Amino acid sequence: MRPILMLSLLVLLTSSQYALADEVPLNEDAIERGKAIVFARSRGNCLACHAIKGGDLAGNYGPPLLLMKARYPKRADLRSKIWDASVREPTTRMPPYGRHRILTEDEIDLVVDFIHTL
Ligand code: HEC
Repeated sequence: MRPILMLSLLVLLTSSQYALADEVPLNEDAIERGKAIVFARSRGNCLACHAIKGGDLAGNYGPPLLLMKARYPKRADLRSKIWDASVREPTTRMPPYGRHRILTEDEIDLVVDFIHTL
């Protein structure tokens, strides 16, 4: 194969892999900060209702947060769930973290970074 062909193939392969991932590469710092918000009783307090890997004394009012990347391949869908769960589930008891400004937009981004790793 000609070098130029091989090069284009390589570019194509790596760029499509990137597109499939549908997001920026993992940012460990953001994930840790998101986890802190999720677990903090005075912030996300998500453990009050959800079992989450690594968290203690979880409630079971909501479903355990598992397989999030498989269930929400699009990050935007997971974000909108946390921003206002009642959009897709009108009778949900989950607090609308964005609509009620319980968390800031930046905090919600960090929360999504963490939740998407579960
Ligand atoms: C007062 C209880 C409560 C709290 C607090 C709560 N949730 Fe929920 N959550 C629920 C319930 C109930 C559901 C199931 C109904 C629904 O899908 O809206 C749910 C659903 C979800 C789902 C969808 C799960 C799935 O399997 O599709 C995600 C993701 C989620 N919550 C994330 C969070 C995050 C992140 C926090 C903290 C920032 C949080 N929740 C805080 C009650 C809660």
